[in-house]
Amino acid sequence: MPMFRPPPIAPSEITPQSVFLDRRRFMQGAAALGALGAGGGSALAAPAALAAPRNAAFSVDAEPTPKKLVTGYNNYYEFGTGKYDPAASADQMKTRPWTIEVGGEVEKPQTIDIEALLKMQLQERVYRFRCVEAWSMVVPWVGLEFNQLAKMVGPTSKAKYVKFTTAMQPETMPGLRVPVLDWPYVEGLRIDEAMHPLTLLTLGVYGEILPNQNGAPVRIIVPWKYGFKSVKSIVKIEFVEQQPGTAWNKAAANEYGFYSNVNPNVDHPRWTQKRERALPALFASRQTEIFNGYGDQVASLYAGMDLKSNF
Ligand code: MTE
Repeated sequence: MPMFRPPPIAPSEITPQSVFLDRRRFMQGAAALGALGAGGGSALAAPAALAAPRNAAFSVDAEPTPKKLVTGYNNYYEFGTGKYDPAASADQMKTRPWTIEVGGEVEKPQTIDIEALLKMQLQERVYRFRCVEAWSMVVPWVGLEFNQLAKMVGPTSKAKYVKFTTAMQPETMPGLRVPVLDWPYVEGLRIDEAMHPLTLLTLGVYGEILPNQNGAPVRIIVPWKYGFKSVKSIVKIEFVEQQPGTAWNKAAANEYGFYSNVNPNVDHPRWTQKRERALPALFASRQTEIFNGYGDQVASLYAGMDLKSNF
């Protein structure tokens, strides 16, 4: 999701070029990460434990991606468009006090304190996580089903979609000065997608509270959709009647659809979606699966829909 469009390239060239560019950035970043590890840096300072029992029924049977990549190779444009910007500069973000305003078409609108969520019954789930940029990770997230939060407010029959909004902290988020997106970062899900048991309100990763660069203190993870739907550092959740405008869809509707379900049969103009680079691999040799491998659980949500036009 670079800020500047590269010149048009023939479809046949897309994969090699993107793999090459990504690989070069990866190597540069690996060096940067090495330096971070040596020099300290508060983003890597001792995080608080957030251990939770693993829910095997909702976990993939795959080796998690090394923690250093999960917490060091990120997309968080509020902290810059580079993959290593968030880990380098998100440590200034203020994550306490933190509340989420939950309202809209609900019976009991309320402001929920992050500490209350942390006291709920949490679980670990190892999910595949696929970015539209054709890389993927396997990540042990810690959280609770979003539908548990929804039950606290009681959506009315008018609630057809859920809109999520990220915090805006101009003093700690240098990326907000650059109009890459129409800030704040907003994402949305259809109500049945949001209520699906796979949709995780996420508070931790790797048995620790979320590092800022991964979207502290609370984000959503929707594992059958491209990573940009998994909005970070949420301050507002609205149950709404109309499909909300979303950050990437507003920026380029032809590239980032509202649904953005992982689909190897619908390519992005700049990245093939047929294969992915399963980090830390250097090559995109993994076949991408429809719905990111979660088809058995979620395909029925889209029964009868043309997934090519509703990409
Ligand atoms: N949320 C906010 N607020 N800002 C962002 O730039 N990037 C998205 C998503 N959520 C983003 C965001 C994208 S493009 C991806 S791939 C994932 O976060 C990356 O999550 P990770 O850094 O934890 O791997």
